[in-house]
Amino acid sequence: MSGHGSLVLGVETSCDDTAVALVDPRGSVIASCVASQAALHTTFGGVYPELASRAHIDKILPTVQAVLSDSGVRPRDLAAIGVTRGPGLIGSLMVGLNTAAGLGHGWEVPVIGVNHLRGHLRSADLEESRVKFPAIVLLVSGGHTLLARLESTTDIRLIGSTVDDSVGEAYDKVARMLGLGYPGGPAIDRLAPSGTPQVRFPRPMLRQGLDFSFSGLKSAVERYLAATPDAQPADVAAAFVEACMEVLISKCRAAIKEYPVSSLVIVGGVAASPQLRAAATELCAGLGIGLCLPPVKWSTDNGAMIGLATWDYLTNGITNTLEPVPGLGMEAF
Ligand code: KG4
Ligand code: ZN
Repeated sequence: MSGHGSLVLGVETSCDDTAVALVDPRGSVIASCVASQAALHTTFGGVYPELASRAHIDKILPTVQAVLSDSGVRPRDLAAIGVTRGPGLIGSLMVGLNTAAGLGHGWEVPVIGVNHLRGHLRSADLEESRVKFPAIVLLVSGGHTLLARLESTTDIRLIGSTVDDSVGEAYDKVARMLGLGYPGGPAIDRLAPSGTPQVRFPRPMLRQGLDFSFSGLKSAVERYLAATPDAQPADVAAAFVEACMEVLISKCRAAIKEYPVSSLVIVGGVAASPQLRAAATELCAGLGIGLCLPPVKWSTDNGAMIGLATWDYLTNGITNTLEPVPGLGMEAF
């Protein structure tokens, strides 16, 4: 079912980044372009869905064009186009899916709908194969906070998820409370090291299995700020990051204890956090297991991760309809 070429064009428009990349079967990235909409959403402190889909419409073809002209790759060099079909915002997903369908039809190249979460998972093997199986994966993004067990690249068992907000959402909401703009993660990361925690925020569901909860932490920060008008933003950011790290790391430790594995994989936008990278490095060194982190630029949404995931679909003969599925789960293809 694949085309004649040896590259996949990965297309990602599930949220607020219009991203396209060319990837070979081993995960080498031939070209990649990410058109970020951060500036568009910063006044709202989060993604404004209608503006996001309109921006994708403006950016998608120029982004595809940029990747092809940067690399000199022609449509006949493609084995397939892989495009995110979910989870994500319905309008944003539809722009990527419809564009990919049109290009595939015109170029006579197959188009495969890809699960964004499987894309994040595969980001850990971009440019270099890192993941050793079995593994535990912690996926921490703006839309999700999940723990899963991986037997192989494609065999995923979900073992924990958030009962309310994701950790990335908590970063974004706390950043908005502190007046730091959107996306909140990088802004909080920059501020936190210059502060000292003056308060101990709650660590929701800390010793209660492998599920997460972040909405109580976000509300605790909100109440603290209302009650402490002279609180220093850097101190609040430091106390917030400390609470997030304790929760994320202790859940990873509990998952590894329950399911002994060779490596811990951390992917998704929050995996760009230096605090999380440092804490995970310490955890894995202590447990004597490998730590697999994608380079920072492949942690946040990009087309390369979708491209590498597409190769798994091709190899395993998995085809999907190009229907958008906003609530697609991690175990689905
Ligand atoms: O994976 P991603 O780009 O998009 C989704 O699939 O949601 O993740 C975006 C999330 C946002 O909540 C953003 O604040 C967070 O990742 N993020 C970070 C950092 N960079 C992005 N969080 C902590 N530290 C960062 N450096
Ligand atoms: Zn994502």
